[in-house]
Amino acid sequence: MSDKCKKIYITTPIYYVNDVAHIGHAYTTIIADVLARYSRLVGYDTFFLTGTDEHGQKIEQSATAKGQSPKAYADKISGEFRKLWDEFDITYDKFIRTTDEEHKRGVQQAFMKMYDKGDIYKGEYEGYYCVSCETFFMEKQLIDGEGCPDCGRATQIVKEESYFFKLSKYQDKLLEWYKNNPECILPKSKRNEIVNFVEGGLKDLSISRTSFDWGVKLPEQMNDEKHVMYVWLDALMNYITALGYGNGEENMGYWPAKVQLVGKDILRFHAIYWPAFLMSLDLPLPDHIAAHGWWTRDGQKMSKSKGNVVNPKEVADAYGLDAFRYFMLREVPFGQDGDFSQKALIDRINSELGNDLGNLLNRIIGMSGKYSEFNVSSKDVLTYHQKEIVQVNEVLENIEKLIYDMQLNRYLEELWKLLFIANKSIGDYEPWAKIKDGKIDEANALVALVVNILAKVSVLLYPVMPHKIEKIATSLGFSINTDSYNKLIVNKELLNDTTISKIEPLFPRIEEQLLASPVLPAVEEKQECKKTVVKENEPQISEDGLIGIDAFMNVTLKVATVVEAEEVPKSSKLLKLQVDCGEEQNRQIIAGIKEYYSPTDLVGTQVCIVANLKPAKLMGMLSQGMVLAAKDENGLCLIRPSKPTTAGTQIK
Ligand code: MSP
Repeated sequence: MSDKCKKIYITTPIYYVNDVAHIGHAYTTIIADVLARYSRLVGYDTFFLTGTDEHGQKIEQSATAKGQSPKAYADKISGEFRKLWDEFDITYDKFIRTTDEEHKRGVQQAFMKMYDKGDIYKGEYEGYYCVSCETFFMEKQLIDGEGCPDCGRATQIVKEESYFFKLSKYQDKLLEWYKNNPECILPKSKRNEIVNFVEGGLKDLSISRTSFDWGVKLPEQMNDEKHVMYVWLDALMNYITALGYGNGEENMGYWPAKVQLVGKDILRFHAIYWPAFLMSLDLPLPDHIAAHGWWTRDGQKMSKSKGNVVNPKEVADAYGLDAFRYFMLREVPFGQDGDFSQKALIDRINSELGNDLGNLLNRIIGMSGKYSEFNVSSKDVLTYHQKEIVQVNEVLENIEKLIYDMQLNRYLEELWKLLFIANKSIGDYEPWAKIKDGKIDEANALVALVVNILAKVSVLLYPVMPHKIEKIATSLGFSINTDSYNKLIVNKELLNDTTISKIEPLFPRIEEQLLASPVLPAVEEKQECKKTVVKENEPQISEDGLIGIDAFMNVTLKVATVVEAEEVPKSSKLLKLQVDCGEEQNRQIIAGIKEYYSPTDLVGTQVCIVANLKPAKLMGMLSQGMVLAAKDENGLCLIRPSKPTTAGTQIK
């Protein structure tokens, strides 16, 4: 079988329906979606599973508290999860619910197989149960003789007849698996924790309950109606019942999973119980169980009672879904905990997405429009830019491994290295100077180099920011699919001749007043927005004509250096300037100053500009800003910094 026919199965945990989705759930699901989209792009036959975990005492209690039946309650919350993932354009292939009949049948079949194999026996359980974690503990594990060692809540003493799974029988086999598959648990640091735990000794696991009945019944053959299955046995089996285990097996070809994503709090269930169950069922074990860290707010666990829960939908609505996806992956190395900060999100949008990617794209579109009427040919790229292409190819060589190793922030950092090469090449080769010197081919080769780098970056960024990247690809005149992946990334070829087109700024700068939108509750927001609180719909000019500081702060003033200046033909007033304003080194401004300044007076000098003015056309030419000047009866003078200042410095 060729590698490209490889089947790839990606799973998220299934979410408890006792509460609505928060940022932690969105994080796991987004990572899984990125892996699935990437796998499809490469050409792998991919199956992506998510869903909801609906049985157990915790759900039963939540439903009772709301005066609903567990099923009605589960239907509602499960529907909300599914709706959110649909709104987030999560490309799951199946959404499983543990209340699905096929799932229940599959779990019963698995139970029977383990029983027939002699791995399940009946006994009596006496111990402590945490309903919130749906976990059994021994007395010696409890905090102060009562509290759950995982969540701190009070446990309850349980003494009841129970079926047990012979977990102890699999201790050595598990240790062997960890040893022979160093990457079975990712990040690798987490593997040691699991190995230590298992080496400490495994006790058989209670896998049924008699004290409540919201769960999967034992198989009929067991003739024991009192029992329902332990919710973790039921839940873990979803990963195979979703593929048809016990129900025709139609998709079992996807098993074993390539990556099973989990949060660090549920790693033990996935790295110990789950492989032991699979061994008992004679099924192969997954390639990677990948455990991510926890998102906190202001360093604290998120909880409703603290009122600090971040709602993923509100964040995505305020800042854009793709930017949110990018942020989650880039901000925190996989496996580590991360603190969610609105300010950090805005900083990344403005600098990495807006400047490094968005401005680069708009600059190069502008240049290609000017130099070659938007037609880009890669024919001279290797003649003039061998060095840059070698650097680009080196990065591409090692990038795929980072994805399945779950080094997702490193993956993005590598892509930003490519953007850096592109941005730097513009500064190094100054295409506008080449044009002036009549070296048109060289200027066009530079444009083509940057367009090619942007195309390659787009292909690899697509799984992370699919919607924005589609737009970039359209503007660069190509499509993102397995063919372009093979051509641009695997074979390291360049784009065919292409005609590119203008595009709206994809990541408009977010000014601080947006921080006042009610995305995040509590402390941090108040601190962040104290400088510029502009409430929506609040008039920015009062009746007496005064403005608040916030209205002034909406105007971005910057120092810029005039790089080129020329007269606008047939105009008595206008000069066409190209200015370097830091992040954008070639911005065009049409200024009405011809009567007072000649082009030679201006080149190399500095001016002050309004940098966030909506672009406008003057005599058919695009003007992206306004030069500040003062005019009195003696004439007009430009406002300039009193000493040389770095281009792009903000004026406050
Ligand atoms: N139902 C079980 C999983 C069964 S899988 C066979 C469960 N559900 S859960 O809804 O409580 O949690 C689902 C996932 O969300 C877990 O991976 C958990 O780590 C993750 N998160 C919950 N809160 C989180 C954060 N604050 N931050 C990051 N992820 C967290 O456990």
